[in-house]
Amino acid sequence: MLGFVTGMGKIRTKFVCQQCGGESLKWVGKCPHCDAWNSLVEEFEPFSVKTESRVSQRFAEIEAEQVPVRLNEILQEPQERLETNINEVDRVLGGGFVLGSLVLLGGEPGIGKSTLLLQCGNAIAERYGVVLYVSAEESVNQIKLRADRLGSISSNLVVLSQTNLDKICSQIQQINPKLVIVDSIQTIYNSELASAPGSVSQVRECATQLMYLAKGTGIAIILVGHVTKDGSLAGPRTLEHLVDTVLYLEGERFHRHRILRSVKNRFGSTNELGIFEMREKGLIEVTNPSEILLSERPKHASGSVVVPSMEGTRPILVEIQALTSPGSGFGIPRRMATGVDVRRVSLLIAVLEKRIGLNLAGNDVFVNVAGGVKIEEPAVDLGIILALASSFRNRPVCANLVAIGEVGLSGEVRSVNFIDKRIQEAIHLGFTGAVMAQSNLSGLNLISEFTVYGVQTVAEALEVALMQS
Ligand code: TYD
Ligand code: MG
Repeated sequence: MLGFVTGMGKIRTKFVCQQCGGESLKWVGKCPHCDAWNSLVEEFEPFSVKTESRVSQRFAEIEAEQVPVRLNEILQEPQERLETNINEVDRVLGGGFVLGSLVLLGGEPGIGKSTLLLQCGNAIAERYGVVLYVSAEESVNQIKLRADRLGSISSNLVVLSQTNLDKICSQIQQINPKLVIVDSIQTIYNSELASAPGSVSQVRECATQLMYLAKGTGIAIILVGHVTKDGSLAGPRTLEHLVDTVLYLEGERFHRHRILRSVKNRFGSTNELGIFEMREKGLIEVTNPSEILLSERPKHASGSVVVPSMEGTRPILVEIQALTSPGSGFGIPRRMATGVDVRRVSLLIAVLEKRIGLNLAGNDVFVNVAGGVKIEEPAVDLGIILALASSFRNRPVCANLVAIGEVGLSGEVRSVNFIDKRIQEAIHLGFTGAVMAQSNLSGLNLISEFTVYGVQTVAEALEVALMQS
């Protein structure tokens, strides 16, 4: 296949993995780089002398300016940031968009990426100057319709409907905006490449050129990238290493809440979380997430437990729900989890079986974090265990109690960090007690209305937390 001749001239063929972006000269069923199956897609590229020389020329220009310098002599310049004044966005970014940086915003189609960026763009246009919104998916009229829903529009917000990368770049250089939003990276193309917009080579080439433009001019550029549920679409995943900051907008499409999460940030922490609610007038910040996430919680229902989870520097109270039901008795019982890792749930089920003697083996088990939040930290283990046991025994967990703790394989309850902050949030939301690791009790400052139950094992925790039937 290599180097065959077509009507378009000499074509170089390669196969690119849609998962990791790795390349292979021949098609193989399993990607040699990331071991994903059936992920290689054929890519055509013309032998374009122009393209190759331009890329190497750009490298040459940048390299020519660089000389080794002493680290201790480098003067740290404060990073200039564009603040949106939308607190949830600024916090996730670490204080606003850094000038000259390239940011990627990924998310499923229809989740609200364009809406959020139009709001950010408008806010920055009002405060700092011209913002260019390049729409390669929608016409300027469609953008106008959306902007009208969002409220007043700044006169500094300029829109351009264009898919050709060269034309986009020349417009950017011409109007020299503070911020550029490219919506989306999968629909723009470089005419020098033969592959279709959205292919790995197009997405990478376009993003690389925009990165050079951002670094060279000091303009902040935001790229929008669509991802499917399994994240396999070309784009965001293949670009993560290239950009400075990667943000994901998540949420269930039919729920109101949207979560903005940063998974990579060269200019700030990656643990922060921004929570929004989709309303008629766009995405509205949620300043008291715990209250909203717990607003629909059924009290005195079995299988429901509240846990204070740390999201970056902020504690958030979330409700963990579990449902165990006797399976059909045939085949393997189902284990499903949304919002927490299903393997962690399996491990905790094993702990309950072995250490407590709960016979969950024949039961289907479902675990869910209400409100579409995803939790990765092990501090919610105790909450999951209590929810599972509560559903299995059909005994509710005391409604005013929160659960905090990591669970080990011997059924021991281990301490977690930021215990003060977690408890403060629980008190703030009106909870009156917490079941937590005994080892977490030392040095705790508590008010008298709040009771803490220090436990060493899961068995003790069940004793304390489950209501008597
Ligand atoms: P959109 O920003 O177009 O999503 P994306 O760019 O991620 O594909 O928004 C998608 C949904 O948001 C759309 O179904 C309509 C809804 N929406 C609102 O509910 N309120 C609003 O004010 C706006 C602008 C959109
Ligand atoms: Mg969109």
